[in-house]
Amino acid sequence: MDQLKVGKDLQKAEDILKRGGLVAIPTETVYGLAANALDIDAIKRVFKAKKRPSYDPLIVHTDALISVERYIEIPEENIFEKLFEQFWPGPLSVIFRKKENGFSDTITAGHPTVAVRVPNHPLTLQLLNNLSFPLVAPSANPFGYVSPVTPEHVYDQLGNEVDYILDGGRTEIGLESTILDLATEPPLIRRKGGVTIEKLLDVIPNLQVADTSSSNPSAPGMLLKHYSTSTPILIAEPEDLDEKLEAKNIGGLFFSRKRKELPNENQIVLSPKGDLEEAAHQLFFAMRTLDKMNLKIILTENFPNHGLGVAINDKIKRACSK
Ligand code: TXA
Ligand code: MG
Repeated sequence: MDQLKVGKDLQKAEDILKRGGLVAIPTETVYGLAANALDIDAIKRVFKAKKRPSYDPLIVHTDALISVERYIEIPEENIFEKLFEQFWPGPLSVIFRKKENGFSDTITAGHPTVAVRVPNHPLTLQLLNNLSFPLVAPSANPFGYVSPVTPEHVYDQLGNEVDYILDGGRTEIGLESTILDLATEPPLIRRKGGVTIEKLLDVIPNLQVADTSSSNPSAPGMLLKHYSTSTPILIAEPEDLDEKLEAKNIGGLFFSRKRKELPNENQIVLSPKGDLEEAAHQLFFAMRTLDKMNLKIILTENFPNHGLGVAINDKIKRACSK
């Protein structure tokens, strides 16, 4: 990596953002590609760098709800206070209705709502605290590809696009934030992510979960083909393959055990002890590693469908859909 482009220099990151540049920022979920949320040209640069279609809205990142209060309608019910207290900072993005002069339509893709999140990473929280404006930050990957969990992942794909990568190490959770829509009644989970449905149900008993089978761009966050590797991924066991492939061309991405039919070195087990948090932490890193191995296909499986397993299964399903 170009050492001038990667580092822990908060002042440099701040200066670039103030000038309308792009900085990759660490969060507890995945790396984001950040720009000044009040600078339309900078926001457009983010869409361009990611080759992201303009109909897919961005999440606004802030250090505290109070910093964006003037742009959004905050629901009054006290259940929401509990929600913010419990989950922010953390891997939860919340969709609010915009105020009359709220965030630009470029951020929200013309929707009357905006997604906001307070990321839980010390470097990025400090950065947001130092700045006088919030940041937009989509995951720092080309549109449709797996999200980055290390500075190297960002550098590999967007090294030329980004002005600086703030190095906060490898991300802890490894999956994107859960997106909770509070602008609908009842509240709706639009993306399964780092905060589990079980935990949210404790606070919001009438919570609904959006159907993941949609590939409708008017339902942002729900594009079916997403998180994909270049190598095709398939939920199948080696013996289920009808196509005749040599074992050396088949990879495996499994939860807790390897398959004896496949070469040892082609397989990654996400958590030998069967821990879903560990599996989530490893998932995108493993997908990228396997994608670099020139395999013809990667086999995977359904994960236990509870806790973070729900989000893992959702990512896998999207990665599989061609
Ligand atoms: O964990 C995360 O949320 C990461 C880190 C960098 O913070 N960010 C992230 O952003 O995953 P991005 O842009 O890759 O995904 C944001 C998702 C998109 O699928 C978008 O469609 C959805 O959020 N979204 C944004 N604003 C929305 C809105 N107003 N209504 C519905 N969905 C929205
Ligand atoms: Mg993304």
